Amino acid sequence: MLIPNKKKIAVVLSLTAFVVLSVAAYKPTEPRSDYKNLQVLPKDISQDSLKLIMDHFKEALGVKCSFCHAPSKDTAQKWPDFASDDKPEKNVARYMMKMTMGINSTYFNFNNSEKPDTITVIKCITCHRGSPHPDDAETEHEEGKQGPPPPPNKN
Ligand code: HEC
Ligand code: HEC
Repeated sequence: MLIPNKKKIAVVLSLTAFVVLSVAAYKPTEPRSDYKNLQVLPKDISQDSLKLIMDHFKEALGVKCSFCHAPSKDTAQKWPDFASDDKPEKNVARYMMKMTMGINSTYFNFNNSEKPDTITVIKCITCHRGSPHPDDAETEHEEGKQGPPPPPNKN
């Protein structure tokens, strides 16, 4: 038995309390969201949509969730503290989200959409292609190339 019985009961009780409290806190007509710190995405986003977006971030940059999400202060907790803004990469990602939305709505809104924020021609992966530093790929490429030929000898 990994969890002593007393502790287990306490955990069960607090979970029950949590469920009861949260049901009471939400009016049934209100969209349900457990997320605490969304500043760019809609606050009432569904769990499925958020998961799709986060999975795209992970794939596009070729990183783990913990690249942007700081570890939990509770060291027994193996999951990151997803609501925390302690890792600067998370705020860079927010900036990138706004930039990407801006590129789409400004430069790809050929049909004058009423919802330009739903255009996704350009995505994170368009630039990142599996790397957190798309600009590095460029540098490596340049380093790999031979320099320009030396100027012809004038003699
Ligand atoms: C490239 C950076 C990045 C990666 C990688 C990433 N996230 Fe996020 N995540 C963010 C940003 C930015 C936000 C906040 C979005 C906003 O402010 O609207 C966020 C928000 C969240 C939230 C909502 C937290 C809250 O309560 O406000 C959850 C949950 C979450 N991410 C889970 C994940 C999971 C799980 C993964 C791995 C599959 C992941 N994230 C990978 C950047 C990232
Ligand atoms: C138009 C191209 C482009 C798009 C689209 C783009 N990025 Fe970026 N991103 C870059 C470049 C270039 C850098 C490197 C900037 C630097 O090194 O100063 C970068 C850097 C980052 C970093 C910082 C990495 C680090 O190590 O600090 C994060 C996080 C990030 N992007 C997330 C995203 C996410 C999430 C998306 C999609 C919402 C996205 N980017 C879309 C070009 C792009």
